[in-house]
Order: sequence, then C-alpha cells, then structure tokens
Amino acid sequence: MEEKKILENRQGEVFTSPNTNSSPVGKKLLLESYGCQMNFSDSEIVASILSEAGYTTTKEIEEADLVLLNTCAIRDNAEQRIRHRLDHLKSVKKKNPDMVVGVLGCMAERLREKLLEEEKLVDLVVGPDAYRDIPRLVEQVEHGSKAVNVLLSREETYAEISPVRIDSNGVTAFISIMRGCDNMCSFCVVPFTRGRERSRDPKTIINEATDLFNKGYREVTLLGQNVDSYRWNLSSKGELKNPTEEAMNFAQLLQAVANVSPLLRVRFSTSHPKDMTDDVLEVIASNHNVCNYIHLPVQSGNTEVLYRMNRGYTREWYLERIKAIHRIIPDCAISTDIITGFCGETDAEHRDTVSLMEKVQFDYAYMFKYSERPKTLAERRFEDDIPEDVKGRRLNEIIEKQLAHSLKSNQKQIGTVQKVLIEGNSKRSEEHLCGRTGRNSMVVFPKESYEKAQYVMVRIDSCTSATLMGEVVSVC
Ligand code: 5AD
Ligand code: SF4
Repeated sequence: MEEKKILENRQGEVFTSPNTNSSPVGKKLLLESYGCQMNFSDSEIVASILSEAGYTTTKEIEEADLVLLNTCAIRDNAEQRIRHRLDHLKSVKKKNPDMVVGVLGCMAERLREKLLEEEKLVDLVVGPDAYRDIPRLVEQVEHGSKAVNVLLSREETYAEISPVRIDSNGVTAFISIMRGCDNMCSFCVVPFTRGRERSRDPKTIINEATDLFNKGYREVTLLGQNVDSYRWNLSSKGELKNPTEEAMNFAQLLQAVANVSPLLRVRFSTSHPKDMTDDVLEVIASNHNVCNYIHLPVQSGNTEVLYRMNRGYTREWYLERIKAIHRIIPDCAISTDIITGFCGETDAEHRDTVSLMEKVQFDYAYMFKYSERPKTLAERRFEDDIPEDVKGRRLNEIIEKQLAHSLKSNQKQIGTVQKVLIEGNSKRSEEHLCGRTGRNSMVVFPKESYEKAQYVMVRIDSCTSATLMGEVVSVC
C-alpha cells in the first residue's frame, strides 16, 4: 500500500519554475521543487540568487541550460521519486549534453558526493545552506568538473534575500523565519540534512511581510521546522546576546507580523507540542487576522512510542495542549501528522493512536508509514520490525478514521457564514472561485464578479471531507 495523504498535498511533488524575466539575455533555468513547504520557500531563494546571476526561467525542459531539483529526503519514497525524475533527465541530456543537472536540498545533503557516483548525470550537488554558492558552482561545472557544496552553517538564514515568488497566486506566500532543527526526533532525517536551528532577524521578516502586503498579497505563512523555538537575540540561558537590541520570541514575532496590517492574514507552521506556549495561543485569540488554525504533529498517541520517538512529551501532555487550544481559542481548527508502524509499535500502542484521534477529532491529518532513514537515532537504536502489511493496515485504519472526522468537521460548517480570502479560480471550474477560511478549509463558490485577494463572506451549503461549497452573501 502506498502512503496516502488527504485533503492537501503536504509532501507531494509539484513542478515549478519562477516567472522572472529580469535578465534580457542569459541562460535558462528549470527549477523543480519536491517535499515540504520549506523546500518551496527555499526554491524561491534559489530563484532569486540565480535571477541576480542572469538566469531567466523556463518550464520547458528541452530549452533549459540548467535543471535544478530541490529535493526531499524525509521518507524513502520521496527519494525514489527523485531517482525516477533523474532517470527521465538522462534521455533529455542525451539530446542536450551541455545541460547542467543539479540536485539541491535534503537529498543532496544526505548523499553528498555519493550522488555523483550513483547518478552519473548529476553535475552539481548543493546542500540547503550553500545556495549562495550555486552561480560559482555552475561555472565550475561549465569548466568541466563536477561541483559539490554541502557545508552546513550555524548562521545562514538568507535573511536579506528577497525571494522570487514561484508559481504564485499573488495572494498567499511563505516566509521562512528560521532554518534547521535541534530536536532530534528519532525517526527524522531533517536535523542531519538541514543542520542546527537558527532564527532569522525579525526586522527582515517584517520587511518581507510588509513588502508582500504592499504588492497585494493578503496572507503569509511563517515557516520553521519548530516555530515555537524561534528566538532572536536570546542566549540559551535567556540573556540578551546584544544588549542594544530587543529580544523576540515566537509569540512576539507573530504579533509583530500581525501588526503589519489588519488586512494581512497570518498563518504559521509547524508547532511542536513540547514547546507551544499559551502566549502564542493568546496572540492567535486576540488578533482577528491571525488564523484560527494550528498544525500540531502528534506522531503517536502512545507515551512509550513517543518516548522511543524522542518527542519530548507524553500522550497526556499533548491532550493538555489540545485543551489549552480549545480554552484559549474557541473554534480553532487543529491538524496533525501521524506515523504508523514505528519501531516496536504493538497493536495496543497503535490503538492508543486511534483512541487519541477519537478524543481530539482532528480537522485534518497527514499520515505516513514509518520509513527508516539512515543515520537517524531510530536506525541506530531500534529495529524497523513492523511488517509492511501491518504498517499498511494500520495506516488504512487511521486514514479511514480521519476521513470520517474531516467530513464531520466540514459538516459542522454547513449553514454558517465564513470569511474567505479568494485565492483564484477553482481547480475544477473556471466558473468558480476558491479560497480558504481562517480554519484553513478550502471553499468553492460561484465566481460572479468577485476577484482574487478579496475577502468575502460565504454561506456554506454543502461539503465533502476535503472541500466546503457555498455562496457569497457579502463582501468584507
Ligand atoms: N517516516 C515516516 N514519516 C516521517 N516523518 C518524518 N520522518 C519520517 C519517517 N522517517 C513525518 C512526520 C513529520 C512529517 C513532516 O513527516 O510525521 O511530522
Ligand atoms: Fe524532524 Fe522532529 Fe525536527 Fe520536526 S521537530 S523536523 S520531526 S526532528
């Protein structure tokens, strides 16, 4: 059984290419992004760096001088997808031997020089902290040698780089607020591929949000592997690093971004149950433009499994955080990530995950079979001993459950009137528009004369487990 995802493609691949035309002459870049939102956001930084270096972009592989795949390594099947794509590129390169092919991101960082040996057509391997070096590395390839830079940094945040918005709807955008992760969840390869956690200067974050707002964007999503550990100008002991500058934690940053304009919606991802404080919840509750939606990955509903996963909380702690969300933010949607078949997971431990889902009734969930990743704590400490068919059966069970909960959650919205930010045409029909509620539900409604980037009040008339359908009753 393949891993499944519902409602939204959190780790799915999308082929993208920036729409820049900043250089009249120059070489053509095709940039493809795979994996998480952070990768998509990174591709916008890469596009900016290469646009400065004179590249224009294309979506046609046949005319590309430079093809870059920004890759994901989180599960084995994410890497297999990229291997297949590289196989396809072989035939293109046969026709155009001068085309430079580069692998960026987490898979590049994980496999390093090995990628050059294993995938002969790859010319360039660049880790997530070395993107500023890409123009030089491409030149090196053009002079006849292969090029690798996988150095991780403790400082790089690409803070002042103004991302080139890729395949943008002109309404919603990501803003990266930090990089790396120090959590060392035992199943996770990210701390190895993205390095140590570091926070971006809040001034540059607020400038980016303001600039987006001035360009007509109406929603920003603040991105970090663990946004709750965002810290600026604070040492681990809580002292000011630079006494002449103010310190900032995530709750304060969220408030500062919310202050950019009451018309700019703010979202964020990802929260960590061990670090999420009531301060953050209070900022959500007290600002109408901070969306009532929290993505709070639980991974498992069993305390022993959570301990083996090195998640730093128990089932009871997680449930207490859920209670805090409901107490402080009435009507907050909650989504989660769940892994089935982690090392040693017994039937009883799996049932605890199912029972936690019953208790919490998540509005959405992203669900995965455990995939052992080289070098992680779990790979070194435990055996990946749950048979594939058992992992698959457990995954199917929780997917079924979640679909029912998502449907129930959407059905509760029927008859209500929701504020929706219009993102553009609906995927299925030119006659319909779509947009999201603050709770992050996708809503589809007849176009009439409404336009992208407008806020409208929509009466919800019907739904599926993935989408709400309705009609506009007024404009905000
Ligand atoms: N196997 C399966 N799922 C994983 N995730 C992270 N590492 C693995 C792995 N080795 C999932 C977690 C995380 C989400 C982004 O991906 O649920 O929250
Ligand atoms: Fe991976 Fe855990 Fe860090 Fe998330 S918090 S990126 S799951 S190590």
